[in-house]
Amino acid sequence: MKDKAPKDVLPQFDWQGHRGARGILPENTIPAFIKALEFPIKTLELDVVVSKDQKVIVSHEPWMSHHICSKPDGTPVLETDTLLTYEMDYASIQTYDAGMRGNERFPAQQKMKVAKPSLKEMVQAIEQHCQQNNRALPYYNIELKSRPDWYEKIVPVPEKFAALVIQEIKDLGIHARTNLQCFDLDVLKAIHQQDPSMSTALLVEKAATFEVALQELKFTPPFFSPYFLTLNKAIVDSVHERGMKVIPWTANETTQMLELIEMGVDGIITDYPNRIEAVLDSLRMQE
Ligand code: G3P
Ligand code: CA
Repeated sequence: MKDKAPKDVLPQFDWQGHRGARGILPENTIPAFIKALEFPIKTLELDVVVSKDQKVIVSHEPWMSHHICSKPDGTPVLETDTLLTYEMDYASIQTYDAGMRGNERFPAQQKMKVAKPSLKEMVQAIEQHCQQNNRALPYYNIELKSRPDWYEKIVPVPEKFAALVIQEIKDLGIHARTNLQCFDLDVLKAIHQQDPSMSTALLVEKAATFEVALQELKFTPPFFSPYFLTLNKAIVDSVHERGMKVIPWTANETTQMLELIEMGVDGIITDYPNRIEAVLDSLRMQE
């Protein structure tokens, strides 16, 4: 923090709980999002797909993952199973578990029986929890999971996917606190065309692809979100020159978070919102 003191920077800093708080509770579930609210996060990051009956479902994969999901009879989903959310009604999705098996990559994650929620259920649960607990309402950073080779088979085409999510956000009354993010530029274009007032983030795997992606997009979203290990200060500066904010994903070690803050990022997406306080302590000690 050479240019600015932490006390000047951090009140606006956009800490985001990745998939809620994946490091400690099952990803993209209501308990994980509620847990994340215990920490100084401003935003909940989540992923959405679509069910057969056209409901927006909170899930990283548009299928039941063989890594983390269990079938209604309690047995694990197998790699050979094909359980596409786009071919399952919401009621059927509710019969699958997404939390009992834990996650090998996150050994501290608490196991619990929990289903994938709809976006509506999730937002209503969060807003109610905040009101009951006098907690500031969070922002929502919602990633539409889409790839061109998935269109119509695994997820809707971009225009339909964008329309479904935008309508849900309007119905839920969270438009002013929502950002939509996507790796698929056609989805971002559809969102911007249907609702130019909708906040969006350009998601990329490699930060250096920033200029090319922006040219193809033909509009400038307010946020740029690259994989954090591909980012450097020169890129942060050039994104800022475009008037955009930089929110990298997904940094989990406190040393990595401190390096990103030093580079001048505007927020950090982390699986461990419970580590934010340690980062803030470090910054206070540098003052
Ligand atoms: O916010 C962006 C980040 O979540 C993208 O990666 O695979 O965790 O959805 P992924
Ligand atoms: Ca995501």
